[in-house]
Amino acid sequence: MGNNENILEVQHLKQYFGKYDFKAVDDVSFSLKKGEVLGIVGESGCGKTTTGRSIIKLFPATSGNVYFKGQRVVAGTRMYTDAIKEEKAASKERIAQLQAAGKSDEVAKEKEHLKKFIAEQKEEIRKAKDDSKNCIRKYRERVSAELREEYNAKIASATSASEKADLNKELSKKLDEVSKENIVTKMQMIFQDPIASLDPRMTIREIIAEGLRIQGIRDEKYIDERVYEMLEKVGLVREHAGRYPHEFSGGQRQRIGIARAIVMNPELIIADEPVSALDVSIQAQVINLLNELRDELGLTIMFIAHDLSVVKYFSDRIMVMYFGKVVEIATSDELFAHPLHPYTKSLLSAIPLADPHYERGRKRIGYNPAEAHDYKTEGPTLREITPGHFVSCNTAEFEAMKAELEK
Ligand SMILES: Nc1ncnc2c1ncn2[C@@H]1O[C@H](COP(=O)(O)OP(=O)(O)O)[C@@H](O)[C@H]1O
Ligand SMILES: [Mg+2]
Repeated sequence: MGNNENILEVQHLKQYFGKYDFKAVDDVSFSLKKGEVLGIVGESGCGKTTTGRSIIKLFPATSGNVYFKGQRVVAGTRMYTDAIKEEKAASKERIAQLQAAGKSDEVAKEKEHLKKFIAEQKEEIRKAKDDSKNCIRKYRERVSAELREEYNAKIASATSASEKADLNKELSKKLDEVSKENIVTKMQMIFQDPIASLDPRMTIREIIAEGLRIQGIRDEKYIDERVYEMLEKVGLVREHAGRYPHEFSGGQRQRIGIARAIVMNPELIIADEPVSALDVSIQAQVINLLNELRDELGLTIMFIAHDLSVVKYFSDRIMVMYFGKVVEIATSDELFAHPLHPYTKSLLSAIPLADPHYERGRKRIGYNPAEAHDYKTEGPTLREITPGHFVSCNTAEFEAMKAELEK
């Protein structure tokens, strides 16, 4: 089950592509508390965008689960098919051993065990497909049932008829809201390239309103009001609604991209390198806007960037990815004070310093996995070095990192 304290929980997410299973995202796990900002960094091609896209269901995950607001919204099936394959192989071996030992009476028991195991995994596959496909309805059903239970208890202990009537009214209103809530659109993505992501033939009004129309909203007056409200929220003006994307600067286009996302009343924003394509002078403005909206709208944010300097001040925690895997995750302060994985150290050494004196004497650290690690006898897993600080390492590295921190 998903942990209800976390608004988002990603468990062993894998996204493989093509016939040969190219591992764009390979066993990524993390969680986000409501209101938290998680920075995700790593070089181009390491799987940051794919992680975001898998979470918002732009393509079916190969394996693993994503829980959003306690509802499984993404569920791969490879973990179950792999388990079946492994168990079949193990069972075959056990049967051979039993037969060799002349215990043929136990073979039937083993066969029975395998049959049961396969049936259980198939049931998990069915549930996974059902959750992925019907997460919107299932979320509504669960929350409605929770509301009914909560209010029925309140109504039962209400002392007057008018109090009961009020509670009933409140419940109906909440049930009505939940019956329309689309949990998937509560996750919105802001894209890297504000030019490519805005249709040049659509006016700003049409772009911002598109998500509302897809949801079936037809009230033109309401739509206009929402569009104007969003434009003002992102620092533009209502007069911009009738214009086309090419009439705006890069920073303004990114503001339009943000308006298009927040018009859906999202709770989670996945901002995919939202400032990478912008001039440095404009980057801070867009980051400040996201920060303001975070407070005002209570947003939880995944902020993807390819270098650490952008995420440093904005993120509560930072996750570093390398070739589809998480190599380190910690609070921002901790990651900057005690970077442990050699790849994180390399990324940190690439941040330009404000002080030119230090800048001259500084060494850039490279990262070559073949030189940095010895994984011949034991491969790495994600281990907690100090509370909340996780690093991908094997036992020998784990001990060395602990020692490094105690120095
Ligand atoms: N739809 C796809 N089909 C095949 N390969 C893909 C697809 N999407 C991404 N990839 C590959 O997955 C890897 C990770 O890509 P991406 O998530 O875009 O990285 P990042 O955002 O960190 O730069 C890259 O090698 C990319 O070419
Ligand atoms: Mg990307």
